[in-house]
Amino acid sequence: MLEQVHLGKTDVFVPPLGIGTWAWGDRLVWNYGSGYGEKDIREAFDVSLNAGIDFFDTAEIYGNGQSERFLGTFIRASGKPVTLATKFMPYPWRLSRKELIHSLHNSLERVGVDRVDLYQIHMPMPPVPIETWMDVLADAVEQGLARAVGVSNYNAVQVRRAYEALAKRNIPLATNQIEYSLLHRQPERNGVLATCREYDVSVIAYSPIAKGLLTGKYTPDHRPRGLRGWRMGGINLARIQPLVQRMREIGAESGGKTPSQVALNWLICKNTIPIPGAKNARQAEEDVGGLVVLPHPSTGSGSAQDKGTGNSGPALGRSPEQSAGPAKVWSPSTAGGSSRPPAQIKDSWRLTPAQVAELDMLSEQVTMKL
Ligand SMILES: NC(=O)c1ccc[n+]([C@@H]2O[C@H](COP(=O)([O-])OP(=O)(O)OC[C@H]3O[C@@H](n4cnc5c(N)ncnc54)[C@H](OP(=O)(O)O)[C@@H]3O)[C@@H](O)[C@H]2O)c1
Repeated sequence: MLEQVHLGKTDVFVPPLGIGTWAWGDRLVWNYGSGYGEKDIREAFDVSLNAGIDFFDTAEIYGNGQSERFLGTFIRASGKPVTLATKFMPYPWRLSRKELIHSLHNSLERVGVDRVDLYQIHMPMPPVPIETWMDVLADAVEQGLARAVGVSNYNAVQVRRAYEALAKRNIPLATNQIEYSLLHRQPERNGVLATCREYDVSVIAYSPIAKGLLTGKYTPDHRPRGLRGWRMGGINLARIQPLVQRMREIGAESGGKTPSQVALNWLICKNTIPIPGAKNARQAEEDVGGLVVLPHPSTGSGSAQDKGTGNSGPALGRSPEQSAGPAKVWSPSTAGGSSRPPAQIKDSWRLTPAQVAELDMLSEQVTMKL
């Protein structure tokens, strides 16, 4: 079984990398339906789950509930357990405590489950005080609708308030989901990481590959379309290239990892849980390789180098069928009648402390100029 980390002080365990599903059905930002569709995201789900990455993050607002519906469909089709996180958006017009429980019931219905593993407040938003929403989150746990509760986009003071409000009900604040990546280091400076560490609140890192910019596929001559291209003009894309180039070299030194995989592993080395958004099987396969040593195509297990160094080559260029690993929990009923369990994917890899330190320094230099 792949290594697991607990969410805060709760008994909810997840692999140290999950998959984000904002793009699953979202047309507004991600243009769902143009360039990728249901077949692609279903394959992304299957590739992740088969590699042992069974932690998925969604929200009621992603695709207006479509992301939750897709997840429900894919989970049922897989017949396997997953750890599911979703979110409540505290819109300013949502003034009553009942709104949260009502929204949670709607999310449960869309996914088709009785409870979620992690229920998060999507962002701090007035006018309802943090303490009130925490009290209702505690109700959700006590009613058996959520195993654990968390927040998102909370600053250090807000984390403290949320933690203390939940503590009055003897419920730990499990997580704070924040933007954190090699191109977004603010959580290290604004006290959020330190506060989460102090209270044993797990940090879930969103936009971990900076919305695709750290993949290395975007350059000043090849910008992302839409909002992303607008936010990151040609000049900034030029400035991040030395970082991406060094990430490419570090990836090569680490047994053939890609810049995205280096970006994700850097976050894991910082004791956070990155949740890259994958739109298709190829992206999911690359993203899970940010943690998982995928089986070597010819041997069905990690390569000799993988075993020796803790690193592996990417599984790119293989079809999802070739590259998909075994189910996390194997049983004859899930193995298509085979009498022998498939090779277990249980290896993960890490950048060396020296590589992490070098990336720290380089990304500081680059982000200072953005
Ligand atoms: N709590 C919050 O407020 C909040 C905010 C944002 C996100 N999130 C969560 O965090 C998750 C991830 O964040 P994100 O989607 O903003 O950013 P991200 O994970 O940094 O980037 C995702 C995008 O990068 C590209 N990509 C991903 N893997 C790739 C690969 N291996 N090769 C090439 N391109 C790849 C894809 O877009 P293209 O193919 O179009 O380039 C994909 O949609 C979301 O799905 C959501 O669950 C939460």
